Amino acid sequence: MTETLAGYTRVCALADLPEVGGIKVEAGATAILIARGSDGVVHALNDYCSHALVSLSEGDVYDNVVECWLHGAEFDLTTGEALTLPATEPVYVYNVKVDDESVYVDLSDINQES
Ligand code: FES
Repeated sequence: MTETLAGYTRVCALADLPEVGGIKVEAGATAILIARGSDGVVHALNDYCSHALVSLSEGDVYDNVVECWLHGAEFDLTTGEALTLPATEPVYVYNVKVDDESVYVDLSDINQES
């Protein structure tokens, strides 16, 4: 049974996340990076790098960015903006909530991803 919270879907436990870092979760056919930055804030982004579609969850998270493991592009965890080359396009960012030690993502706009 899928757990929901006011339109948000539970994707993992807060304890599943590293103190600073990310994991991949699956939402239907979509892979999502759930990442906690060094400020402790949890973010949800499309897991695929906009440069060549490799999994960002295999990259490094530090400060408020995730660094793609393949060519080193950095993405802002809050906005999804590509901060460094070779990526030039953002990755999609989902609304996320943390409640009662669980992480919830708003999947209602999953078909709106660019
Ligand atoms: S595949 Fe991510 S920077 Fe190239």
